[in-house]
Amino acid sequence: MLDPENWTDLRKQGHDMLDDMFDYLQNIQDKPVWQQAPNDVQASFQHDLSEQGQPLSQLHEQFMQNILPYSVGNTHPGFMGWVHGGGTAVGMLAEMLRAGLNANLGGRNQIPIDVEWQVLGWMRDLFAFPDDSSGVLTTGTSSATILAFTTARHALSATSKPLAVYASIEAHGCITRALKIIGMDANILRKIPSNDDYQMDIRLLQEQIQTDQQQGIQPWLIIGTAGSVNTGAIDDLSALADIAKEVGAWLHIDGALGAIAMLSSSIAPRLQGIEHADSLAMDFHKWGQVPYDAGLVLIRDGEQHRQCFAAGDSYLQRESEGLAAHSPWPCDYGMDLSRGFRALKIWFTFQYFGKKRLAEMIEHSCALAQYLKTHIQKTDHLELMAPVSLNIVCFRYIGDGSRDDQAYDAINRAMICHIHASGLAAPSLTYLHHRAVIRAAIVNHRTQINDIGKLLAGVQQAAQACDSIPHERLEFS
Ligand SMILES: Cc1ncc(COP(=O)(O)O)c(C=O)c1O
Repeated sequence: MLDPENWTDLRKQGHDMLDDMFDYLQNIQDKPVWQQAPNDVQASFQHDLSEQGQPLSQLHEQFMQNILPYSVGNTHPGFMGWVHGGGTAVGMLAEMLRAGLNANLGGRNQIPIDVEWQVLGWMRDLFAFPDDSSGVLTTGTSSATILAFTTARHALSATSKPLAVYASIEAHGCITRALKIIGMDANILRKIPSNDDYQMDIRLLQEQIQTDQQQGIQPWLIIGTAGSVNTGAIDDLSALADIAKEVGAWLHIDGALGAIAMLSSSIAPRLQGIEHADSLAMDFHKWGQVPYDAGLVLIRDGEQHRQCFAAGDSYLQRESEGLAAHSPWPCDYGMDLSRGFRALKIWFTFQYFGKKRLAEMIEHSCALAQYLKTHIQKTDHLELMAPVSLNIVCFRYIGDGSRDDQAYDAINRAMICHIHASGLAAPSLTYLHHRAVIRAAIVNHRTQINDIGKLLAGVQQAAQACDSIPHERLEFS
């Protein structure tokens, strides 16, 4: 009933749509990174749902005019805010195939599930997880973390002791959120200060654990970060694994940003210890360049994982043959019963580019970050605010030093808005040691050295616009 009346027209329209998206990706660098949507465009999204349908060509036109130019901009090589991947044309095509097939990957006897298990197997191998470990694809690391913590709580043997959770103060907010969602009291989380490299301070962790144990509190969960959101710092994962083993705690690793860097033989040694995690949450949609959304949870104890989520509902009964065969199913390992074929775009991306090319892309981002760092260190009015561990550079405009810290906080914040409005680049804001900093996360595979140049030009223009000292005193080196 909803199939097209005229397939020839639809085919033509579909090819036009595809061509527009190829043009968009091919010429993305000629556009501003981001632009504010005008009021009339925003207003165009406030009408009621119409009774009658509209021609596809008209909807396509609205998309091209009113949606596409005003998205967040993460496909653009100048996008360096937060942690956003750039996606690829190949991933886009895989998404089209996925949508056409419209497979529901909750379960049942179908090859798309073998594709998801294959992707899972690749990750199991990459992180040297055991053969009987399990996993499932998720929307992202936030949801993967909820699955990991739910399993960790399921695996906890009965105890009357109060529990404690340990994470660095640099840990991502999804940790606190996941604890809240699974119903844990917020005060069980111990936020361990970081060292000068923004890694969790291992000595302070040990002291906190000791204090808790002396008070009869059981260390339940230790959370390490493989690439922190603020600075890209990698915690000492081997040390965390040793401590977790010693005190009988579950080791969870947040690898949203950095776990994928395991593909690079030069970065992999710095992730050592990840193979001992009881659970690992990671993303493909960030540095893996898979189109949104795509995350993964890996759980060392596959049986605990399955027991935690598998339900014995009559309508999900398994058989040894027919459509209800091929158990276990992905729905046995997570919250979702109906699930899309998220695996396909990962499967295409990883096989099309291969491990070597993906590793080179990751190393290229890190090299660009080092280039930016060097430039900042040479520039009088800028200060590097954190070591550059992977692909994130945090810096601050310090002008001629004539103002106090609060004034420079306000200027740096205003500068970031100014850079966004310029369309030259899109860094984001964060705070390090209570100071506002400009943060460039070089995640997009399209970013090149000239995009770093544009960011620096944007910073200079913004400094001139936002700091009212005479411009001749603001010459950047
Ligand atoms: C270190 C870290 N952990 C977790 C997350 C959350 O991941 P997601 O956005 O995929 O839910 C992010 C997102 O930027 C992150 O950088």
